[in-house]
Amino acid sequence: MNPEYFSYFKDKVGAVTGASSGIGLGYAKYMLAAGAKAVFLCARGKDRLEKEGGYLAERYPGKVFWETIDVTDKKQVEKFVDGAWSKYEQLDLLFNNAGISHLCSVWEVDDKLWEDLFNTNFWSVKYGVFAAIKHMLQQKTGGHIVNTASISGLVPYPYQAAYCPSKFAAVGFSRSMRYEFYEDNIKISCVCPPLVDTTMVRETGMPLPDDVLSVEDAVDYIMKGIAENHDLICFDYMERLKNLLDHVMETDGALLDNALARRKHMDAVGSPWNR
Ligand SMILES: NC(=O)c1ccc[n+]([C@@H]2O[C@H](COP(=O)([O-])OP(=O)(O)OC[C@H]3O[C@@H](n4cnc5c(N)ncnc54)[C@H](OP(=O)(O)O)[C@@H]3O)[C@@H](O)[C@H]2O)c1
Repeated sequence: MNPEYFSYFKDKVGAVTGASSGIGLGYAKYMLAAGAKAVFLCARGKDRLEKEGGYLAERYPGKVFWETIDVTDKKQVEKFVDGAWSKYEQLDLLFNNAGISHLCSVWEVDDKLWEDLFNTNFWSVKYGVFAAIKHMLQQKTGGHIVNTASISGLVPYPYQAAYCPSKFAAVGFSRSMRYEFYEDNIKISCVCPPLVDTTMVRETGMPLPDDVLSVEDAVDYIMKGIAENHDLICFDYMERLKNLLDHVMETDGALLDNALARRKHMDAVGSPWNR
């Protein structure tokens, strides 16, 4: 863990959705290591949340609180955010991070999955932002809202035809909102990670490329971007994309290569992509 940006998080109160694993758990760990006053965690699954929350609470007594909620429920998000604020009448950082994904042909995405993806990846972000901003405005010290979108919110990766638009929506919403609250000392940053080695990614069964990021490296990078108040925290990916563009002269070419590699995988696992 890189301590260079600890000072930004010291004595702050943070709330993290999707905090029982992966990037969200990484945000919580970083904040606590940095000397945060308190961190509030939530996720749906009780066992994993209690295990990770309990471990952190042992290490940082009196600073870690958790609650099982489903972020697709507006009232539960409001209760979670209000609860985090009311403990110290302070909420400095809200990480809207909970997310779900899919990796399959668009034909296989039924209406229920479309709804789940948008409810989790977009509407929950809207619920979180609205719940937090009223407190951040009230407390005068402002605050920082960090929405974890994805590189798939900037680049239309194939076989993620429902995930991508849910993340495009989150990116557009975050970036647009940032300027609306700029003068109120409320910062809004949008995180667009490339592939990070987490449960979500492993569950797809796709072989991980050699350059997959570890959670710790991803979180170090993100925390730097937050501390420096970046609008878009998109790693060196844009640089890599530029290099790709230099090679193939057109984005379509790179994405087609990507699609072909994924189709090869679908064939190998027998996914009915070509109905
Ligand atoms: N890993 C990557 O390569 C990558 C790349 C770009 C963007 N992202 C984004 O990063 C964020 C974190 O993902 P991750 O990779 O760290 O995956 P992860 O390890 O699977 O973590 C996802 C977290 O979200 C929680 N969650 C999911 N649905 C929820 C709901 N309805 N209500 C409350 N909590 C919910 C999960 O817990 P429960 O299941 O118990 O609720 C878990 O704590 C997501 O928004 C994802 O889209 C990931």
